[in-house]
Amino acid sequence: MIPKGIAAIVTSGSAPARMKTRFTELVGIDYPIVQGGMMWVGRAELAAAVSNAGGLGILTALTQPSPDELRREIERCRALTNKPFGVNLTILPSVNPPPYAEYRNAIIDSGIKIVETAGHNPQEHVAHFKEHGIIVLHKCTAVRHALSAERMGVDVISIDGFECAGHPGEDDIPGLVLIPAAADKVKIPMLASGGFGDGRGLVAALSLGADGINMGTRFCATVEAPIHQRVKQLMVDGDERSTNLIFRSLRNTGRVGKNSVSDKIVEILRRPEAKFEDVAHLVRGAQGRVLLETGDLDAGLVWAGQVQGLIRDIPTVAELMDRIVREATDIIRRRLPAFVVDGRS
Ligand SMILES: Cc1cc2nc3c(=O)[nH]c(=O)nc-3n(C[C@H](O)[C@H](O)[C@H](O)COP(=O)(O)O)c2cc1C
Repeated sequence: MIPKGIAAIVTSGSAPARMKTRFTELVGIDYPIVQGGMMWVGRAELAAAVSNAGGLGILTALTQPSPDELRREIERCRALTNKPFGVNLTILPSVNPPPYAEYRNAIIDSGIKIVETAGHNPQEHVAHFKEHGIIVLHKCTAVRHALSAERMGVDVISIDGFECAGHPGEDDIPGLVLIPAAADKVKIPMLASGGFGDGRGLVAALSLGADGINMGTRFCATVEAPIHQRVKQLMVDGDERSTNLIFRSLRNTGRVGKNSVSDKIVEILRRPEAKFEDVAHLVRGAQGRVLLETGDLDAGLVWAGQVQGLIRDIPTVAELMDRIVREATDIIRRRLPAFVVDGRS
């Protein structure tokens, strides 16, 4: 099925062999489309499918219960693709932090050449990855954080607008302003993230000054995403209003899919005296995993973005990528030039 809004734009032409940006040249891929790190979702079958389709697939390190299992997952991904892929390392404040240095060593020892870092204080990790010649993409949500990551020596900024699934930060700046504001200041290649799901978004990102796009939610609704069919269908059925912002009052905002659990968290934290402990029982990562694996849509939280409003089917990754690239190419070649009239009539 061709999504409604896109039908008018997509032609029957084939996708170009490549799209060339500073980012595609740096990491050696055909199309400037990245599948961002996703807890419980970023496994070998999805990452390999994205890389095989010409984008950059990314495994999520902490989805693996131990650094040794991450090593095995990297090997599994290598068996599924001979194209470049990366590994995400998300650094979040935690009472019992995972052994980050051991995960980092597993990534380095496995010969991974591209890493996506996200979260707080990545300095130590970035320095170690750079010592080993690894290309580091750092995901952040504010221009000032992008500039400090650039100073830290990362190679690519991935900047997440307020629309995104996951942690949009506390500034609430949507991509339409955040991306060009960042592009005006960041000198290294930059990916636009949050709210992207089709070729229109890819062209918009390039127009706003980015060198490519990063997508999370849209890749969840694909055949290869290793999650329950009901969760994929949830994203098809959802629209641009089907998310909740949780933990606002705790200044650790998360954008998640709207369900009974996220509704409850919002309701509890609206009380002036509410604390994290009042919702802790609702937010355990293990419950989110149960939701993704069993399709029990009220088992826990599910990360999902506003781009649900643009998701209308569950294609294979290759079909999705082909559609995005064809649509983007068609807009660039046909729709946009028609707006420019040279000479006076
Ligand atoms: C199910 C899911 C899990 C995610 N888990 C992580 C994660 O562990 N680490 C991370 O850096 N980002 C995570 N993200 C955020 C994505 O990498 C990406 O930045 C975001 O989804 C972009 O916004 P979009 O969903 O509108 O495309 C997750 C997103 C989703 C949808």
